[in-house]
Amino acid sequence: MSQLTANLTGVPRTLMLPLRGRADEQSYSRPLFQDPLAVEWLKVLGWDEELEALYSKLGKAASITVATRTYHHDQITSRHLASHSRPVVVELGAGLSSRFHRVGQNAYRWFELDLPVVTELRRQLDTPTEQHQFISASVMDFSWMDAIANDVEPENILFIAEGLLMYLEPNEVKQLINAMRSRFPGATLDVEVLGNYMRKPGKGFSKIGAPFKWFVNNEGDLTAMGLKVINSGSISELYLERWPWQWRLPWALLGQFPYFRNSYLIVETKL
Ligand SMILES: C[S@@+](CC[C@H](N)C(=O)[O-])C[C@H]1O[C@@H](n2cnc3c(N)ncnc32)[C@H](O)[C@@H]1O
Repeated sequence: MSQLTANLTGVPRTLMLPLRGRADEQSYSRPLFQDPLAVEWLKVLGWDEELEALYSKLGKAASITVATRTYHHDQITSRHLASHSRPVVVELGAGLSSRFHRVGQNAYRWFELDLPVVTELRRQLDTPTEQHQFISASVMDFSWMDAIANDVEPENILFIAEGLLMYLEPNEVKQLINAMRSRFPGATLDVEVLGNYMRKPGKGFSKIGAPFKWFVNNEGDLTAMGLKVINSGSISELYLERWPWQWRLPWALLGQFPYFRNSYLIVETKL
């Protein structure tokens, strides 16, 4: 691990896990997406060996889960960019996401929002431009909303919360969604949510100071917050062809049980 990541502790440190997953996907024979930057950034930063037990606990499942979730958010983003005239993308809790470089060329504006320690790290690796801006803020400090382009209609904005909301307290998630709904009505919010099945696996994250705090029963919990659910997919049913053939049938069968299916959902909603 390099000096660059020495300040990453608690939840910000978890950004290394999806970075590693995206980099690992590049050594698969038919990767779901091309991501040379993830490989480069991981090389520069070095791997955090203390995260190894957490990352490799489920064998290949961690890296395949990162790959399928990344690809799914990429697909949602590409559709949004293709169907809006001045599309804006805001990654909330962006970590070292390289999505802009994979699919963001046609965005009018693209914002990477994360805590200052993470944005500082990004600045060492990536260069902001007028099109691609970095916001140093907690998502709970709602003044970040002022930095989002105010010359676009909310319908043109896609917010992506990939691996973020589970680290917030339930009342914080509600406050955030309420604030976003009143500020950006009609915008799209693409969220990842965890179900109660993940409480036990979440204990490994508590050990590194990044406990999961918010869980849902199903998509109904999002509707109850005033979000309109447009599409929803469980990680257990997305891109099954990417999983080793021995896993596909058990994965598909387990996915029939709501408790398992709802353990990890990617839900496209309207604010
Ligand atoms: C698991 S990482 C996910 C990073 C990125 N979305 C990805 O998938 O690669 C969680 C990220 O959420 C960020 N985060 C946690 N709490 C936050 C907050 N209150 N405001 C902004 N970012 C936050 C962390 O700093 C970290 O970068």
